[in-house]
Amino acid sequence: MSAMKIAENIYWVGVIDWDVRNFHGYLTPYGTTYNAYLVLDEKVTLIDTVRRPFAPELLQNISEVIDPAQIDYFICNHVEPDHSGSIPAFFEACPDAKIIATQNGRKELEAYYFDVNLFEKPDRCQVVKMGDTLCTGQYTFQFVPMPMVHWPDSMATYLPGPNILFSNDALGQHVASNERFDDEIGRERLMERAGDYYANIVLPFDRPVQTLLGAASKLDVSLVAPSHGVMLRGFIADIVEAYGRWARHETDPNRAVVIYDSMWGSTRVLAERLVDKYEREGKTVELLSLSDNHVSTCMAKLLDVGTVAVGCPTLNRQVLPTMAAFLSYLSGLNPKNRKGQAFGSYGWSGESVGMIDSALKALGWDCGEPIRCLWRPRGDESGLPTSPEDERKLATSGTIR
Ligand code: FEO
Repeated sequence: MSAMKIAENIYWVGVIDWDVRNFHGYLTPYGTTYNAYLVLDEKVTLIDTVRRPFAPELLQNISEVIDPAQIDYFICNHVEPDHSGSIPAFFEACPDAKIIATQNGRKELEAYYFDVNLFEKPDRCQVVKMGDTLCTGQYTFQFVPMPMVHWPDSMATYLPGPNILFSNDALGQHVASNERFDDEIGRERLMERAGDYYANIVLPFDRPVQTLLGAASKLDVSLVAPSHGVMLRGFIADIVEAYGRWARHETDPNRAVVIYDSMWGSTRVLAERLVDKYEREGKTVELLSLSDNHVSTCMAKLLDVGTVAVGCPTLNRQVLPTMAAFLSYLSGLNPKNRKGQAFGSYGWSGESVGMIDSALKALGWDCGEPIRCLWRPRGDESGLPTSPEDERKLATSGTIR
């Protein structure tokens, strides 16, 4: 896609990645974009680059507006390679541009691009901190470091006048589309993609997000220009409100999700009984098999859900490999403030349910008594068996069904 003017003197020069389906372990069925922006002034500024394979497209888009060699400043809001990967190609085309980055950004650039000698020129980099500014003529950029949204180096850049917040990873979405603005893809699609993205990328960084939202609330923002997905102009308040809720780990007590895997169907039966139980309690509930749903899909589903049941049988004194992957992913993303429920079947040693219960409790969740069943589920419509002892009693009472 060609360069696109988004405001007077300001251009989107990013690229659309229609094909990416796995973003470091997070499935991206709708692709993504890597957004870069060009600001024309007495001094010309490029904000961020794109993933390395798309460098020729970035340079082509810049060339539609201005000769890349005429760029004076490169604002590096984030060093992760989806935004910095084209730096080597960019500096070949524009060897004299000055880098603007946080202190951590400078360190990370130096370490990551050690083979490019980015800093052999003594004045190559201007390190900025909160509140620092850069005047390019009629415009004065303001810098808003946002460490850990998403890496230690991460920074947003605000441009008063057109009132644009270049928010980098914050407030982004993984979606490829020919539309460039939120009101063009519609609120529902926007919120779904923003939610998936938050659940799989931003969720662990609740306090940094709240700090960023506090800093951003002092700015008069007409357009949010993130580094992924569409720009926000119609639904800024909706996304900011959602980020606040997600960062506070607010969940809906009337929603539940049951995530499980099964070997021979026993844990599946328990999962279905839990679905019935939650339905009887008036909850909206979803059932997700880890054999059929990627861990990142499960994370997106539980973003604002109040009750999460997690179950699998025991295999070789462990959880199933699919469950191990899910628990590892869940632990890293660290969602809080849920009710948890571990469940699963077993034949003899039965470690899996205790392992799941421990993992959920480690997140600080309020967990119900673990539900185990010996070999096959028993019980009646009044509820689920609650312990191996109950199971054994039921097994000898002839109420198998
Ligand atoms: Fe889109 Fe943290 O990179």
